[in-house]
Amino acid sequence: MKLRNVMMFVLTLGISNFALAAAEITIKFSHVVAPDTPKGRAAEKFKQLAEQKTGGKVKVEIYPNSQLYKDREEIEALQSGAVQMLAPSMAKFGPMGAREFELFDLPFIFPNQEVLHRVMDGDVGKKLFAKLDTKGVAGLAFWDNGFKQMSSNKPMHSVADFSGLKMRIQSSKVLGAQMKALGANPQVMAFSEVYTALQQGVVDGTENPVSNFYTQKMNEVQKHMTMSNHGYLGYAVIVNKAFWDGLPADVRSALSQAMKEATVFEREIAQKDNDEALAKVIAAKTTTVYELTPAERAEWQKVLLPVHKEFEEGIGKDLIQSAYDAAAQVAKEQSAAKKK
Ligand code: LMR
Repeated sequence: MKLRNVMMFVLTLGISNFALAAAEITIKFSHVVAPDTPKGRAAEKFKQLAEQKTGGKVKVEIYPNSQLYKDREEIEALQSGAVQMLAPSMAKFGPMGAREFELFDLPFIFPNQEVLHRVMDGDVGKKLFAKLDTKGVAGLAFWDNGFKQMSSNKPMHSVADFSGLKMRIQSSKVLGAQMKALGANPQVMAFSEVYTALQQGVVDGTENPVSNFYTQKMNEVQKHMTMSNHGYLGYAVIVNKAFWDGLPADVRSALSQAMKEATVFEREIAQKDNDEALAKVIAAKTTTVYELTPAERAEWQKVLLPVHKEFEEGIGKDLIQSAYDAAAQVAKEQSAAKKK
C-alpha cells in the first residue's frame, strides 16, 4: 500500500512537471500599423519584456500592418479568442457598443497631452475599461499616438476648403460628425485600405498623426497636409478577458508589469516619432505642410466645437465634463507655475 502511494506521488509529480514544460502560453498581438510607429515599437517592447519577465513561459507573436486582420475583424477575432491582444485606436470601439471611447475623438477637446493623460489615467479611463468588461474584453493600458493632421490633394486653410471633399475616417460617429461640420463627406474605411483609396481617388483625403501618414507612404498620394492638431488618436491595449483571467496569477502579474513598462516607453517615444515623421515628410517634398494661422484655427474651432454638444448623450455628459475640468485644472496649474 505504502509503495503504491509513493508510486502514485512520483507519477503525479511526473505529470505535473510535464504539464509545466509544455505550458508555453502564446499571445498573438495583432495590429494594423507599421512596426516603425509608436504602437508597433511598443508592441515589440512588450514582447521583449513579457518573454523576459515570465522566464520564457509566455511567447508573444506580433502581427503588424493588418497582416492577420483589418480593423473591424481584429476586434471580432479578439472576442472569439483567435488572437489574445490588440491595441485598436479609441475610434474603433463604437461599433462594439462602447461609444464612450469616442470622447477621445471629439475635436479640440484636449488642448495638450497633459490634459489627455489626466483623463485617460483617471476615473474616465477606469469607466471605459469597466465598460469593456461586459464585452468579454479586458483593458490593460492606454497608449498614445498623437494629435491628428488633415491631408488631401487640395490645400485646407479655411473651413470652406473642405466643401465636398471625400474624407476617409475611422469607424467613429464623432469623426463622421466632425467631417460633416467641416462640409466634407466622411467615408468609413479600414486603415489598410487607405493608401490605395487615396491613390485611386476613391477618397480625397484623410486625417492621422504624421507617424501613420509617413509609414503608410501617404505622402506619395497626398499633396497637402495641414498641421491642425484638431483631434487626438490613441489606443486602448486590450486582451481577451477569459484568456487573461485564466492565466496563472504569477504569469498575469509578470505580464501586467511588462505592460506597465511598455506603456512608459510608448508614451516617451510617441511624440518624438511624430516629430521625426514630420521631418521626413518635409524632406520628401511630395506634400506641402501648412500651419494654420490663429484666425483659421479659430474658424475651425467655431464649426467643430458644437460637435461636443451633439454627442453629449452618446458619450455621456459627465465624461465630456471631466475633460473640460481637467483642461481647466491644467491651465490653472500652468498659469500659477508661470507666475512663480
Ligand atoms: C486609423 O485607422 O487611422 C488608425 O486607427 C490606425 C492606427 O491604429 O493607428
